Amino acid sequence: MPSVTTATTKTSTSIQNDGRLQLTGHEPPFGDWRDDLVRDGYAVIKGAIPPERAQAYADEMFSWLEDFHLGFDRNDLSTAREKHLPIINEKGMCWWYSLAHEDFVWKIRAEPGVVGAFEKVYGTKDLIVSFDAVNFSLPGRNDIAPNKPWPHQDQNPDTRGFRCLQGLVNILPNGPQDGGLIVCKGGHLLSEQFHQEMKDEPRIKGFFDEWYGYTDAGMKWLDNHGLKWHKVSVEPGDLIVWDSRTPHYNLPSSSTRPRFCVYTCYMPVADVTQDDLRRKKEAFEGYRTTSHWPNATFVGPADAIRDGKPCPYNRKQPTRKPCLGERGYRLTGIPYIR
Ligand SMILES: [Fe+2]
Repeated sequence: MPSVTTATTKTSTSIQNDGRLQLTGHEPPFGDWRDDLVRDGYAVIKGAIPPERAQAYADEMFSWLEDFHLGFDRNDLSTAREKHLPIINEKGMCWWYSLAHEDFVWKIRAEPGVVGAFEKVYGTKDLIVSFDAVNFSLPGRNDIAPNKPWPHQDQNPDTRGFRCLQGLVNILPNGPQDGGLIVCKGGHLLSEQFHQEMKDEPRIKGFFDEWYGYTDAGMKWLDNHGLKWHKVSVEPGDLIVWDSRTPHYNLPSSSTRPRFCVYTCYMPVADVTQDDLRRKKEAFEGYRTTSHWPNATFVGPADAIRDGKPCPYNRKQPTRKPCLGERGYRLTGIPYIR
């Protein structure tokens, strides 16, 4: 059983679903970032977390890395080597060590300016959140494989329409040279046409159905249809959201600055089954990591691999267990299990 502390477990389980954006490109103007989302398939919500809290989260993230006591030092980035760090892949992702359930990660997920953006898009407060990876892209990581482009969308190409809004909370200054999210502007609006016309293109194998990798021919199609790729630059505390149909990946850094972000993706409880919620509860109680998809269709391996063997620093639980308020607890989905 989890050792999660909840400030309260008194919560309503009646599900509100007041309507949501469909992201067809034909929505009337809102006068805010939702217009960017409708047009471009992504948007930046400036200052979703106040800068001083973003700074505090940055400190906690650096401390989390240092507290493995393997030699990493935030003031000497030459220590950013695999032997001094927990396992982080070449794309900056860390999925293991129960990191997805560290208290600071849950605090970020429950930040009102973050979850509030998703409430606006989905038209409901009855949401669940993914238990997704954290990104620690440290400069000069030539000790691991290079980060090659892997353009993809995080939605099953056999499904239609807007189904899931993804997000990442940016923690450190992230300019054009610092690596990070690159999106194919407007790709969501041509998604249906793309998958119709490219249905015979051989598929790149992914971990699960809600993923599609763009081949060279697919990239050419996007280019031939006038779509352009754009690297999104953001400041600490900014939230980037994108339609899961929008092609994207992340770029390596060519600067000396680290990039930290936390992936936060929400979907309406109304969209998920009781089986999804039960699987999600199991993932929560086992401190497991999921994909972007909050319905826990994919639960990742618990253990990191180091030098071909289970990492000796693997953990079965976070160092600081999540202390959830009511908002955070509802986002686990547990209160909605009947
Ligand atoms: Fe993705």
